[in-house]
Formats: sequence, C-alpha cells, structure tokens
Amino acid sequence: MQSCEFVKLITNRIRRRIDPVFVMTIQASGKNSTERAVNALPAPEEKAGYVQAMFDAIAPRYDLLNSVLSVRMHHGWRRVAADKAQLKSGGVALDICTGTGDLALELARRAGAKGLVIGSDFSAPMLQLGEKKKAQRSVPALEFVLADALKLPFPENAFDAVTVAFGIRNVADVEAGIREMARVTTPDGKVVILEFNSPRNPVFAALYQWYSFNVLPRLGGLISGRRAAYNYLPSSVKAFYSREEIKEMMERAGLKNVTITDLTFGSVVVHRGVKSK
Ligand SMILES: C[S@@+](CC[C@H](N)C(=O)[O-])C[C@H]1O[C@@H](n2cnc3c(N)ncnc32)[C@H](O)[C@@H]1O
Repeated sequence: MQSCEFVKLITNRIRRRIDPVFVMTIQASGKNSTERAVNALPAPEEKAGYVQAMFDAIAPRYDLLNSVLSVRMHHGWRRVAADKAQLKSGGVALDICTGTGDLALELARRAGAKGLVIGSDFSAPMLQLGEKKKAQRSVPALEFVLADALKLPFPENAFDAVTVAFGIRNVADVEAGIREMARVTTPDGKVVILEFNSPRNPVFAALYQWYSFNVLPRLGGLISGRRAAYNYLPSSVKAFYSREEIKEMMERAGLKNVTITDLTFGSVVVHRGVKSK
C-alpha cells in the first residue's frame, strides 16, 4: 500500500470514531445522488452512535428544516398523532425520541396542568432546544429526560400513552423499541407511532422518491451544512419496515386493535395500538 493511501486509511478510521456524520460525507462524495443516499446508511452496529452524532450536529437547524422540507405539514401530522393517544386532562404520557419536543408539547397541552408528559431522547442538544420551547410557552406539566429508547428508565405500566414521532426508524432495533414502548404503557393505554413510509399510490411514490433523493438532501445540506444527515433520511425511510410489518411488531409486543392511518398520500403513517389487559 502506498504511504498516502495508508495515511488516508488511518485518518478515516480516526474520523469514524469521532464523527460518523463527517465520515459518511467523505464516503458519499463523488457519487450520484441516489448512490450517495443509498450508501448513507450506517452498519447496524454503528447505527446508535451514528444517529446520536447526527442529531447532536443538526439540532440547531432541525426545526427550521422540518418546516421547510415538509412545507409546514409536520405540525398537523403530530396533532393527528396526539389525538390518537387519547390523553385525557390529568393523564400521564411519554414521548420517546422526542427531539426538540414538538409532540411532547402537543401532548402536554392535552394533559393540562394536572397531568404529566415526559419527553425522552438520547441527544442532549435536541432536548436543550425542547427545554427552551417549554420555557417560552410556559408549559408546567412537561419534563425532558435524557434516555435511550431501548432502555427506558421507567417501570412497567407507568403511562396512559406512549408516543414516538419520526424516531422509531432511527432506533437501532425497531422491534425492541416497540416492545419497550409497550412495556411502560399501562394496560388499556395507547401506543402511537408516527413515521414516514412509502406512499401506496405508484405515481405519488415515484414523485416522492424523486423529491426525497434529489431535492431533500440538497435543501437539507444547504440549510444544515450537514448533507450526510439528509442523505440518511430518504435511505432510512426506504429501508424501513412496511406498514404491515410494524403492525405485526406491535401485536407481538402485546398491543391489540392496531390501526393504520395514512397521511399525505401515505408518505406519513400513524400506527395506534392498545395495550392488552
Ligand atoms: C427525526 S428526530 C424526531 C424528533 C421528534 N420526535 C420530532 O417529531 O421532531 C429523531 C430523534 O430520535 C432520537 N433517537 C434516535 N434513536 C434514539 C434512541 N435509541 N434513544 C433515544 N433517542 C433516540 C434522536 O436523537 C432524534 O432526536
């Protein structure tokens, strides 16, 4: 091996340890947009570290990008998810992978001052932005907790509703994540999963695929300065489970009456299940 190649290899190995998002950018350069996006998925054993580093890095621009890339539809999607949780005034809910806390805020509004909503996430920079929103909107019954979705620091049967918005796709073991959500839900409580999926209509699916592999990474890269993160997004959606597979995982986790609701031509899907008694 030539010495410059050797130096490149070592440098890349060191970078892989400290900044997986940066490494993905290096690896992805020089390929067309679809190849870049397809190659943007980390190896399963690297997924948790990759995802955490990615959200730590894009946190300051995350909310702005959500609004731009979804043409502000993301608030409406989360409102549907919050409705499906059927949280009553005084209820107790957990929103995992809460990020900057938008769904948790939506739930806290419903739970009211006598309720309690916890938003958990493993990215401290994302939670700090959630804390700022909470202070600006003076929401009393909302707490943020730094926690891994695969090892929730809560007892069994603790929450009336457990939700996740655009987070379960990023968890290293999706089925284990759903099991953990079900574990901490009270019998008869609701588990709600809001996530991107592939549209059912083939024409819309083709348009959506074009947008997500061509426009989205460019816009996301431009605004966040982290193009690799926005190459990862469409790839992770493409590689994600089907609606039916998610439903089966929920049923295996002990959830019954699982419903599937398509939003925006099925590019976004809400699954809702009820924990068996
Ligand atoms: C796309 S963001 C969604 C944030 C928020 N729920 C929303 O609707 O905007 C995904 C979030 O999941 C978090 N996340 C991914 N895997 C996680 C895990 N294993 N444990 C905790 N948080 C995780 C990331 O840190 C990130 O904040």
